[in-house]
Amino acid sequence: MFSVLDPYKVREDFPLLQTTLVKGRRLVYLDNAATTQKPVQVIEAVRKAYYTSYANVHRGHHELSQKSSEVYEEAHEVIARFLGARDWREIILAFNTTTAMNYIAPSLAEYLARRGKKRIIITMMEHHGSMLPWRRAAPLFGLRVDYAPVNGEGLLDLGALEAMIDDDVGAVVVTHASNVTGVVNDLRRISGWAHQHDALLVVDGAQSVPHLPINVADLGVDFMTFSGHKMMAPDGTGGFYGRLDVLEEMTPWVVGGGAIKEVTLEEVVYADLPWRFEPGTPNITGAAGLIEAVEYLRRLGMDQVHSHEKRLVTHVARYLGEVEGVDSYLPRGAFDLTGIFPFNIRGLNPHIVGQLLNDQYGIAVRTGLHCAHVYHHAMGLEEGTVRASFYIYNTVEEAALLVDAVGEIARKYASA
Ligand SMILES: Cc1ncc(COP(=O)(O)O)c(C=O)c1O
Repeated sequence: MFSVLDPYKVREDFPLLQTTLVKGRRLVYLDNAATTQKPVQVIEAVRKAYYTSYANVHRGHHELSQKSSEVYEEAHEVIARFLGARDWREIILAFNTTTAMNYIAPSLAEYLARRGKKRIIITMMEHHGSMLPWRRAAPLFGLRVDYAPVNGEGLLDLGALEAMIDDDVGAVVVTHASNVTGVVNDLRRISGWAHQHDALLVVDGAQSVPHLPINVADLGVDFMTFSGHKMMAPDGTGGFYGRLDVLEEMTPWVVGGGAIKEVTLEEVVYADLPWRFEPGTPNITGAAGLIEAVEYLRRLGMDQVHSHEKRLVTHVARYLGEVEGVDSYLPRGAFDLTGIFPFNIRGLNPHIVGQLLNDQYGIAVRTGLHCAHVYHHAMGLEEGTVRASFYIYNTVEEAALLVDAVGEIARKYASA
């Protein structure tokens, strides 16, 4: 284990980062909130699964299927330990955060309606992948959706949220870390308010699970989604944690083979947990890669991952904060932050800034509304933002390249 995360050493494991050139320059990859690059350990695990243990899972009666099922089951155990779940059956594998939330929303809405609940609260910070499944599912079960506001800086209005929660509320849906501003929400506090009213805390962990130490029990989380591809695992991996006692009472919404024990024309008997929420053939080799990705992060230590990213963002914020024509949207007074630096250059559309960073400096960032339209509107940023997002393989040198590039663009093109 490294005592302090050494990004130069980490980079050696990432073939793409060593070889890729953009317009003749070495790639500076700062689009990690969208997806991360994959280390050789993950790529090799996927290759090995195809070479040595590939068959369909769910315990077919032949040796290869047994082997494949073992790896697939182990992925649940590894994620359970990583998230601090008490039981591996609390981990449901899906394909990303979006599918995970689409699995959760209708099943949980139906469960909550059965218990007499009438409202779901969603924050205005949510990514569409977490907001839209609830907007679609809640009304089908007679539940109303209410929105917890954010202030102009992009921080959740905690006073307003607390005041909105009463005994009618079935679930509070909140992102742990914003994909736009990197703001981390104080889940323990929100969980306390929710649980006082017998409401569940449903958390979008897409931008926190890859970046922060997580313990769902300590945080008081009842459901938490994650995307494997944002934490170095193959794309098409991800899923969610759900509290066992609640999962046991929920009826699956997405159904099919693998999720059942028995089907007659009169009746469907669902399989035991977690399989009843995992219909169809899953991402089998992806699960092998997911195990390696989690092991990689555990070796580094999630505290180290978090502080490394914050060091880079602090560096960028310090220098760009002084550059005329650059507007930073890192909110002051956030409970915590991840490795995201959101900004604009005054007078320039964010897409143009992204294009210039790519074409003239070889720097890859994301631009626009980042699937969080409501959040941007609430902050008055109708054209969106430029988002530089860091991960374990980014260096201070790369942060400095970003600072220099943005400074140069601002000096040339920013409006007064
Ligand atoms: C906060 C947040 N939630 C949900 C998602 C959706 O993730 P996926 O595309 O992996 O389903 C993202 C992706 O950027 C995200 O950042």
